[in-house]
Amino acid sequence: MNKRKLIVGNWKMNGSLAANESLVRELLAGIGQPRCEVAVCPPGIYLAQLQALLAGSPIELGVQNVSTHEVGAFTGDVSAEMLKDFGVRYAIVGHSERRQHQAESDVHVAIKAKRALAAGITPIVCVGETLREREEGMTDFIVKRQLAAVIHLNGHCSSEIVVAYEPVWAIGTGQTATPEQAQQVHAVLRAQLKGVTEHADRVRILYGGSMNAANAAELLAQPDIDGGLIGGASLKAADFLKIVGAAA
Ligand code: G3H
Repeated sequence: MNKRKLIVGNWKMNGSLAANESLVRELLAGIGQPRCEVAVCPPGIYLAQLQALLAGSPIELGVQNVSTHEVGAFTGDVSAEMLKDFGVRYAIVGHSERRQHQAESDVHVAIKAKRALAAGITPIVCVGETLREREEGMTDFIVKRQLAAVIHLNGHCSSEIVVAYEPVWAIGTGQTATPEQAQQVHAVLRAQLKGVTEHADRVRILYGGSMNAANAAELLAQPDIDGGLIGGASLKAADFLKIVGAAA
């Protein structure tokens, strides 16, 4: 199926007013008319700045998290509707760093996806196994369990999500999954989606985990890899633009 690839930069907890402006100006100077969709996810505090900087550009705005709640006494939370006010198009949910450091469960992730979808924001649902789980032959079981929770709660909307396969052992380590390893898991996820929606082929399944300017083209050439979720390499405009360029 012919669908545009999606390249998303996850800036994680990096940046400043000055650094963000300089990075975005470099990106806008070099991006031209990209053949793929492009988004960046800054730390939430900078949403207004990024909304202004990206206005009218081909780069869309995403966030790294969304509250499980709709509104009310939830100190520190930001709701999906509030994010929508700032033109947010994508929300990463279930990143392994939040699963690990903020104790986010599959159920939390599923509810976050639901809140995002209800606000018209596309959730980017992250799944992925640890090194130990891979070594124990648990990879397929883990990623299917993580995705199943989201499908279970959002059944009729399952074709409206983006999935990101991010093997935990590949994140920030420089140890990228091989194209074959990544494709194998992406095919498992595609098959799972096919079990619940006739539109599974149009769901973008991104790869994330030490994707960079040198390895992006080979990963993105795999039949079930529909884009990338980029951490470290998204903080350098030249590298990020090369990845965007590799996504036909
Ligand atoms: O969200 C992005 C992923 O965690 C990948 O990060 O490209 O620095 O390995 P990385």
